[in-house]
Amino acid sequence: MDLLQEIQRRRTFGIISHPDAGKTTLTEKLLLFGGAIQEAGAVKSNKIKKGATSDFMEIERQRGISVATSVLAFVYKDKKINILDTPGHKDFAEDTFRTLTAVDSVIVVIDVAKGVEEQTEKLVEVCRMRNIPMIVFINKLDREGKDAFDLLDEVEQKLGLKVIPLSFPIGMGYDFKGIYNIWDKKINLFSAGSKTVVSDGIEFDNVNDPELDEMIGSEAAEQLREELELVEEVYPGFDKDAYLKGDLQPVFFGSALNNFGVKELLDCFIDIAPAPLPKMSDTRLVDSKEKKFTGFVFKIHANMDPKHRDRLAFVKIVSGIFKRNTNYLHVKLGKKMKFSSPNAFFAEKKEIVDESFPGDIVGLHDTGNFKIGDTLTEGEILEFKGIPSFSPEHFRYVNNADPMKAKQLAKGLDQLMDEGVAQLFTLDLNGRKVIGTVGALQFEVIQYRLEHEYGAKCSYENVNVHKACWVDAEDENNEEYKEFKRVKQRYLAKDKKGQLVFLADSAFTVQMTQQKYPTVKLHFVSEFN
Ligand code: G4P
Repeated sequence: MDLLQEIQRRRTFGIISHPDAGKTTLTEKLLLFGGAIQEAGAVKSNKIKKGATSDFMEIERQRGISVATSVLAFVYKDKKINILDTPGHKDFAEDTFRTLTAVDSVIVVIDVAKGVEEQTEKLVEVCRMRNIPMIVFINKLDREGKDAFDLLDEVEQKLGLKVIPLSFPIGMGYDFKGIYNIWDKKINLFSAGSKTVVSDGIEFDNVNDPELDEMIGSEAAEQLREELELVEEVYPGFDKDAYLKGDLQPVFFGSALNNFGVKELLDCFIDIAPAPLPKMSDTRLVDSKEKKFTGFVFKIHANMDPKHRDRLAFVKIVSGIFKRNTNYLHVKLGKKMKFSSPNAFFAEKKEIVDESFPGDIVGLHDTGNFKIGDTLTEGEILEFKGIPSFSPEHFRYVNNADPMKAKQLAKGLDQLMDEGVAQLFTLDLNGRKVIGTVGALQFEVIQYRLEHEYGAKCSYENVNVHKACWVDAEDENNEEYKEFKRVKQRYLAKDKKGQLVFLADSAFTVQMTQQKYPTVKLHFVSEFN
């Protein structure tokens, strides 16, 4: 197979949103277009339902589903599309951040009534920092919502984006009549009864045509004309390069539930969204078109069967062709490995594949060799950058609650941390272990999984930590750095990679420490070079 052709036809992206904005519904509609599923309702929601019986049981249920929905692949108009699923729950934000290191672009879903919500802000900020190309989909147009121009302003202001509407709604909620597609100059009329029927739209390149009045009524037609004029005045023309650089974000309006405006989004997406992009490593930029295979692990999923402790490592292929039963170098371990049954993902199934191309994700069975961020190559020594750890929000000492099971506890903690469930810090002074998580829910998950998968018991104890700050010294022999280490000894720890971390007890401490030791930089994120 021709590597270049295969690269050009791939689109690997993630959908991000605040919970309930319509991510699952949109994903499902996209899969319907690809013929990957036959009916609505086939994609199981991996979100944590409100009011579930018990949070961690719900997480177990969700984990089962999320293996299947981690990568949803389908073919549409000869393009191979890979959707990387991201958990919506805020306690799993770190998972989402990591998945975003493996996407080439993103679709942001916003609820027309709620506008920009908290989770969307955080996730978009990460995408913006990495210049990931983004398309915005404003959903639920069948409901009363905010005025389209107000929403576009809100998106620009709260998310720091520069938008360009490529479609525009005709009315909203009760009066919602359809959408004018600025991108391909077509009108799609909405009828609540048409639900999942997909109409190709009516060509309408001149909105001044009196036929429009007949179609949607004079009042709506006049309003649309005025609004489109305003769009032209306020927003610059679409510039694909600016979109690809992350400097301009096209906006579409629609209703995922009614499958309205989704095809337009998808058609534009496959046209403009980037094929697999080059990725920076510690030694050089790796281009997807290079013949030799490289890839990196962005997610690890533990097996659901506690009797078999094997895991699935999700590898994003950056360059070359990944082949089954071929020796590859696990760079960090300096170890050659080959894989007899790599999994590729289709809709909600996975199958063993012989070859995979840049942009694709392969699932490799792992017995404990992989950590998130590990790189595989054909022999070159390089490691991909860009999977940092962020400072957790919640911290607790973890203690062994069953002295007979110390080994199991150590192993369980080690493996759960490899999976990225939480972060472990070991205090320099006394070797005590502190677990840091994004959400309070993870403490329950860890306790539950340690017991059920590793036969170990742990208890927690409060510890007064506000933030984990990764320490970056300009010069390790500098007196200031030495004094910092001496004075702050009680608060210093090592993360899992052995990097030095200052566990600060308050925002004030961070500020004071930074003032007192200006050459010692404190970062809330583990990658800072
Ligand atoms: P999420 O993955 O982003 O969390 O959102 P999800 O797709 O699960 O959608 C959240 C709720 O919003 C669902 O209703 C879904 O049916 C509804 N929804 C999605 N798109 C639209 C739309 O275009 N218009 C309208 N009116 N509603 C939409 P639910 O009642 O919470 O769940 P369900 O019982 O329907 O599954």
